[in-house]
Amino acid sequence: MTLSELTALLDAELARARDQIAKVETVADLDEAERAFLGKRSAVATVNQTIKELAPEERPMVGQAVSSYKAAVTELIEARRAVLGDGAAEAVDRLDLTLPGRGLGRGHLHLITQVQQELEEVFLGLGYKVAEGPEVETDFYNFEALNMPQAHPARSMWDTLYVKLGRPEEVVLRTHTSPVQIRVMESRQPPVYTVMPGRCYRRDTLDARHSPVFHQIEGLVVDEGITFGDLAGTIDAFTRAYFGPGHTSRLRPSYFPFTEPSAEFEVTCFVCDGAGCSVCSKTGWLELGGCGMVDPNVFRAVGYDSETYTGFAFGFGLERMAMVRYGVEHIKSFFENDIRFLKQF
Ligand code: PHE
Repeated sequence: MTLSELTALLDAELARARDQIAKVETVADLDEAERAFLGKRSAVATVNQTIKELAPEERPMVGQAVSSYKAAVTELIEARRAVLGDGAAEAVDRLDLTLPGRGLGRGHLHLITQVQQELEEVFLGLGYKVAEGPEVETDFYNFEALNMPQAHPARSMWDTLYVKLGRPEEVVLRTHTSPVQIRVMESRQPPVYTVMPGRCYRRDTLDARHSPVFHQIEGLVVDEGITFGDLAGTIDAFTRAYFGPGHTSRLRPSYFPFTEPSAEFEVTCFVCDGAGCSVCSKTGWLELGGCGMVDPNVFRAVGYDSETYTGFAFGFGLERMAMVRYGVEHIKSFFENDIRFLKQF
């Protein structure tokens, strides 16, 4: 073959290669095409063989034509391989291996927070303000200003947790929300109409109704001419507003150092509507908390004139309230953070 025949042959082969490689649809067919256009039996291999038959001055030209043919065909094959390779990845993608999304799910307020906010709403509706105080308290606020001097036996009504701060037994985790009464009265003059929700601590052993950490809401009213009738009326108004009009309340004599007279207040059993059941020990009533007329000694501790002003206070547990209202059997449910419990409310 002459030089021009050889180069014409390579040009024709390149055109054929361009045409065929573009049509190849699988990697296997592409390998086949690679063998056909570059392999031992390909036209270019034959051309290579014949180079030595050419005149020496012609050889470099054919050698150059051969290498540019090889480069061109290799480029065509690699370009096509890249396309088919992507296609193969796509084919794998079509096997849907995704799992359903986990989703983030929207949270909501804890039941105790909900109860607290609902109660705040009820009292805001009755014209009260909301106040809060510290959970770590001094002996003065938790006991002394509430008419319980040092070593007063009434202090044993609360199993207290002491904090290692200051003098021995000077700093406590508040055992009730009543110290906030003192802080509110210290900070302002009557009239006072305030509720004070918050977390409290007692050295109690966990059982179905007691927990070392729990929540209370305290109420305090101080004004001219406030009577025990106002206390009873307020408790009843709140009972109806919170539990519903079918529910009522009653007071039973009790004792608290910071109120005189003192009472426990009970509401119609939420489970049996007053008929008597196991939850209310067949009485038809459920005890919710304590209350009474503010003791004059408490007014003295905060510098209020007990000749001009009278007042009442009450306090009760939010967990107890929620247990009564939602039929929760064990107080620990509020603190375990079991999502199956929490999401029911
Ligand atoms: N602080 C009392 C308790 O924790 C409840 C109470 C509050 C009683 C206000 C009377 C007046 O038991």
